[in-house]
Amino acid sequence: MEKIVSLCKRRGFLFQSSEIYGGLQGFWDYGPLGVELKRNVKDAWWKDMCAGHNELVQAAGAPSTFDMVGLDSTIIMHPQIWKCSGHYDMFHDYMVDCRESKKRYRYDQIRGRWVTHQEQKIFVATMADAETESEEIQHRALKFFRLRPKDAESLSYDGPSTTLDKVDELAVVLGPDAKALGTLTEPREFNLMFKTTIGALGGEDDYAFLRPETAQGIFVNFKNVLDSTRVAIPFGIAQIGKSFRNEITPRNFTFRSREFEQMEIEFFCHPNQSQAWYRYWRDRRLAWYQSLGLSRESLLMREHKTEELAHYSVGTADIEYAFPFLPEGEYGELEGIAHRGDFDLRSHMEGKLDPSTRPMEVEKDEHGKPRHRGSGRDLTYRDDVTGERFTPHVVEPSAGADRGVLAFLCEAYHEDEAPDDSGKLQTRVVMKLHPRLAPIKAAVFPLVKKDGMPEMAKEIYAELKRDMAVFYDEKSAVGRRYRRQDEAGTPYCITVDGESLVEKTVTIRDRDTLEQTRVKITELAQILRERMHA
Ligand code: GAP
Repeated sequence: MEKIVSLCKRRGFLFQSSEIYGGLQGFWDYGPLGVELKRNVKDAWWKDMCAGHNELVQAAGAPSTFDMVGLDSTIIMHPQIWKCSGHYDMFHDYMVDCRESKKRYRYDQIRGRWVTHQEQKIFVATMADAETESEEIQHRALKFFRLRPKDAESLSYDGPSTTLDKVDELAVVLGPDAKALGTLTEPREFNLMFKTTIGALGGEDDYAFLRPETAQGIFVNFKNVLDSTRVAIPFGIAQIGKSFRNEITPRNFTFRSREFEQMEIEFFCHPNQSQAWYRYWRDRRLAWYQSLGLSRESLLMREHKTEELAHYSVGTADIEYAFPFLPEGEYGELEGIAHRGDFDLRSHMEGKLDPSTRPMEVEKDEHGKPRHRGSGRDLTYRDDVTGERFTPHVVEPSAGADRGVLAFLCEAYHEDEAPDDSGKLQTRVVMKLHPRLAPIKAAVFPLVKKDGMPEMAKEIYAELKRDMAVFYDEKSAVGRRYRRQDEAGTPYCITVDGESLVEKTVTIRDRDTLEQTRVKITELAQILRERMHA
């Protein structure tokens, strides 16, 4: 993972936000290559899920034809939305504070191990990553028991490392940054929504939240979309946009950030059809990641167990990826596909529902009034053909754009060998990004900076630049230029050489196979386009 993080900074994929001021934890900036990569991920999603969808043809595996439309709602919305959605009451994490170090940790992220020395058994907690965890636990246990490294054998361990929530007695826990035992507080709830104020006065009535998900913007526009378009159920509304969560322990590069982008679809269907649509979206979304280069072995489809599901839900599955910062055999969530029933539309109509009731009823306060009032608007749907009126059920494929980018970067990173300018094999770092995602599609080089080669290469560059992201480079030896493009993930390098001037041809070098093929300049753009979508 360290190699990927360092390449991301060195080549301008990702920078820590506000770095010159010491950085801001949980916030990341995309550099010149990163912004193109992320845009390509979002564009691929938008095209494949929404803009390129053909509503006239039944897609493979789909229960019927369906419509797809897009939306771009605001980040700050009416605060009542978050009360009815459940985020105001329920969107929290458990966290613990350390009375000694004054640090705050997410309860489920503290790991540790039982260590015994001369009858004293303590739980040594740590926030270290999987690679350094054992070393760190031993180091801190030695320090606590005032032992030297050569006395490490006098420590005994009870079981493998585990999470703090498995420990009942906090009094025997050595906190991740503490010197004494029992300094961690009991876990407490912490709301993850960022609060802000609207307008100049900034009283209690003027508060609002930065959205923690894009989904609610879709639910509250359901009626607007129905009234302004000719879509009919089943149909989906797609949205890409920023979301904000005040994560307690942002970590693992961009994986858990405080500002991130989501790519969400709320798919509205008849209740009788929702199970079939859930299965369709679950399988389709997994296939999408594979179509853009993630291998099946590094992906996991994790169906939630029945006891994990909200009772109104027929299923939820997470698509997970074997991120290299996780211990061997563990996966991290890339996307969730959830069956949400009619919870959201009914909550925005009637008032926040109590998910523990069956059938679901509006949650009441001590006066018997709705705890959070709904909009009172009619969000039901009337089928024009059958005349049936019902509240649609929703299937929600919810993906993180930043987690997608991170997974594509991790999968792309390779080290292999390639010949240098003198033909000697050298280790090369190559980012094997899918051509659709690659920030630069092709680099154009004159072999040498003379004999009219730069002029011809510049002409080709200008021509290609009209419809794809290309890069021109005439500096340094050609082998070096290839290697810089390999690191950037550029799938094709076009070289203008002596033969080009006579035959009006160029070579295309393939990043992954290193194969060079000679093609006519007049056919170059078309060949590149075909390879890009192959
Ligand atoms: N509307 C449903 C929803 O928001 P979620 O599982 O909380 O569901 C969906 O989030 C996706 O958003 C996740 O699968 C993940 O890819 C991304 N995501 C969530 N929190 C994130 C964070 N703190 N940093 C980066 N991505 C995050």
